[in-house]
Amino acid sequence: MDTIAQLKLLEKARAFVIKKHEGDKSGHDVNHIFRVVKLAKHIASLVEEKVNLFLLEIVVLLHDIDDPKLNEGDQKLVRKFLIENAVPLYYQVMIEEMIDSLSYTSSKNGKKETFIEGKIAQDADRLDAIGAIGIARVFAYGGNKNRPLDGDSEDASLKHFDVKLLKLKDMMNLEVSKKIAEQRHDFMIKYLKQFRDEVDLIS
Ligand code: ADP
Ligand code: NI
Repeated sequence: MDTIAQLKLLEKARAFVIKKHEGDKSGHDVNHIFRVVKLAKHIASLVEEKVNLFLLEIVVLLHDIDDPKLNEGDQKLVRKFLIENAVPLYYQVMIEEMIDSLSYTSSKNGKKETFIEGKIAQDADRLDAIGAIGIARVFAYGGNKNRPLDGDSEDASLKHFDVKLLKLKDMMNLEVSKKIAEQRHDFMIKYLKQFRDEVDLIS
């Protein structure tokens, strides 16, 4: 694909993503996608490896399109989009492979990102789940699902910190991302302490 074709595809992908994610209240609103694009480019500028910025951006833009939380059944919308836009098969295979490996569930099942673009995209997506933004997303998600903030209930939003968010810092692929993650992680720890202190009337 020449540069013009790549730029045109990115433009189409942005429009597709805006349409698909618009109005989502489950923590997958379109701003999540654009924050992750920005963060991924930032990380790419700091790593030593050569990064294919086209591949990186297309992977980030499309990474949540087929998320089961956004769809009924397995629709393979990414594949459809890539085929409809005549993306060469070798790129299609790489893009799908990176998106498949990106999720937390894939990691738990032992799947790893092998391409540098996938490693960056995965780190950037995880960084957007922690820190101040991560806190906001947990409670937005919980609100959307009518879940309690805290308390003993299994589905209390506060439980999601221990279940997942506090683990993400140690799951970063790249040193650069880990540095950003540590700062965001520390902020969550401070926030959780303050939350518990307020519940216990300590402060
Ligand atoms: P991502 O798009 O970052 O991979 P997910 O699809 O796992 O994220 O979830 C979207 C957002 O909703 C995340 O910020 C996550 O913390 C939050 N979330 C997901 N599952 C839960 C849950 N069970 N309770 C509270 N928040 C959740
Ligand atoms: Ni995401």
